[in-house]
Amino acid sequence: MPWRVGPAERKSGALPDTYHVWLSEVMLQQTTVAAVRDYFRRFISRWPTVTDLAAAADADVMAEWAGLGYYARARNLLACARELARQGGRFPETREGLLALPGIGPYTAAAIAAIAFDRAETVVDGNVERVMARLFRVETPMPAAKPDLVRLAASLTPEARPGDYAQAVMDLGATICTPRSPACGICPWMQHCDARAAGVQADLPRKAPKAAKPIRKGVVWIARRIDGAMLLETRPERGLLGGMLGWPGNGWDGAGGDAPVQAEWREAGAVVRHTFTHFHLELDLMVADVPLGQRTDRGAFIPREQFRPADLPTVMRKAYDAASGAFDRVE
Ligand code: ADE
Repeated sequence: MPWRVGPAERKSGALPDTYHVWLSEVMLQQTTVAAVRDYFRRFISRWPTVTDLAAAADADVMAEWAGLGYYARARNLLACARELARQGGRFPETREGLLALPGIGPYTAAAIAAIAFDRAETVVDGNVERVMARLFRVETPMPAAKPDLVRLAASLTPEARPGDYAQAVMDLGATICTPRSPACGICPWMQHCDARAAGVQADLPRKAPKAAKPIRKGVVWIARRIDGAMLLETRPERGLLGGMLGWPGNGWDGAGGDAPVQAEWREAGAVVRHTFTHFHLELDLMVADVPLGQRTDRGAFIPREQFRPADLPTVMRKAYDAASGAFDRVE
């Protein structure tokens, strides 16, 4: 993983760059290592230090984050970078100091203190919860079991190399102690695992039954000017996909809503489906070709050469892909 230092460097006392640790931990929340790797590399090559990131334009950071999801993380990332830059650009070394920064919660504070400063903090993410639930055979369903799992995890945190230990337990959960079919045969903790002894490892942690996600329906309007410019708006800071670029839409709550420009709108004949944390979304697509000089109440026409579908969050990119066959040809 590009944010880690190798065993040889660690042996000679090297610790990873705090900026790299912080950035990777924020990216890794709700996201896998495989998905994060390239985003991480692009961020540190474009903004090599936290002060560089603090000086970036919001829209550039949001565009670089597009596709990673959970966009509040990107806004918090910028708020934190800017606060740090105001304080001189150095990260605090303690969990408490880190917790005082915007967007840094208990998980991230513990992870940075442990990994970047080798402090004996307990780092508990979903992988660690699963490992602890199995090792100690905790039968209480989630999320009620969380406080117990944190306490059990803390009971194992060592004074020696706590940063390496924290990452090792997360790796164990990600690669061996996996949700469905754990590879107990190669697990270094096999002899100590109470769930394995009882044969219930694949059933833990137990989950309270989940409520089904509701389906919400909405519309987006995709307007293309005859010179190829696309009508996009920056979404409000608060709320779903906050601060990201998107096609003007209605509220996605079943209510109507008005098209953003006067035009001959037509249905693109496709429905875009996308699943968010709390609901499934089905979007109808309306498309229109509009003349030069058209006034709009919402958003702005982005010139063809500046429009990059990759800068859009995934649901908006899907909508673009589904609609792009429905426009008149642009010469
Ligand atoms: N998941 C989140 N942070 C991680 C880390 N530092 N190592 C392994 N997996 C992780």
